[in-house]
Amino acid sequence: MAISDIRREYEGEPLDETRSDPDPFRQFALWFDQVRELEADPTAMALATATSAGRPSVRTVLLKAVDPRGFVFFTNYESRKAREIAETGRASLLFVWRSVNRQVRIDGTVEKVTDDESDAYFATRPIESRWSVYASRQSERLESRAVLEAAYEAARRRLGNAVPRPSWWGGYRIVPDEVEFWQGRGSRLHDRLQYRRQADGIWVRERLAP
Ligand SMILES: Cc1cc2nc3c(=O)[nH]c(=O)nc-3n(C[C@H](O)[C@H](O)[C@H](O)COP(=O)(O)O)c2cc1C
Repeated sequence: MAISDIRREYEGEPLDETRSDPDPFRQFALWFDQVRELEADPTAMALATATSAGRPSVRTVLLKAVDPRGFVFFTNYESRKAREIAETGRASLLFVWRSVNRQVRIDGTVEKVTDDESDAYFATRPIESRWSVYASRQSERLESRAVLEAAYEAARRRLGNAVPRPSWWGGYRIVPDEVEFWQGRGSRLHDRLQYRRQADGIWVRERLAP
């Protein structure tokens, strides 16, 4: 079977102004509650960043918090994504929830969360994940797997059970100015609602062509 012959229908509940919340955070919460038991990885989201020259890159990260301030994930502050965030101050997120044929796209500015927020989340991570933060200089070239494992062993022996959050690891918050909800429908006549935050802070909601 040719790749071009792989296709399926994307059916789903209608999404329109009467069946969505005027606030994109409440709409996100509504959809998230519906998929959290259905999806294997409901918090997995693609994070797109770019260099100041406009060269884009994308990778998966996990959503760890969301509230009306924005969408939070945690990472290494010296990674490629961190460098690109520092260059442009912007990022995009994308959730794809296949069980319900839905996609949520989020564009916005990026800020670091407070040290207290990063400390609190770091403390909830299993100890193995905390040691591994010390072992991995994320996005740097690595000679071999053995080098990584040796760094992990060294971190484990050096730190023991007292593993404070290092200053080069923490959270980012995407503060959205645009959020789009996509609901698959029959015959490729999908529903798209785009929310844009105006200068006065009020969100406007518009339908986009699929
Ligand atoms: C399901 C999944 C979840 C991931 N979650 C995270 C995460 O929350 N934080 C993170 O830094 N990397 C996460 N990663 C790894 C990233 O995709 C990526 O490889 C890493 O952050 C380095 O990206 P960079 O070199 O572009 O900065 C995850 C990968 C997968 C497949």
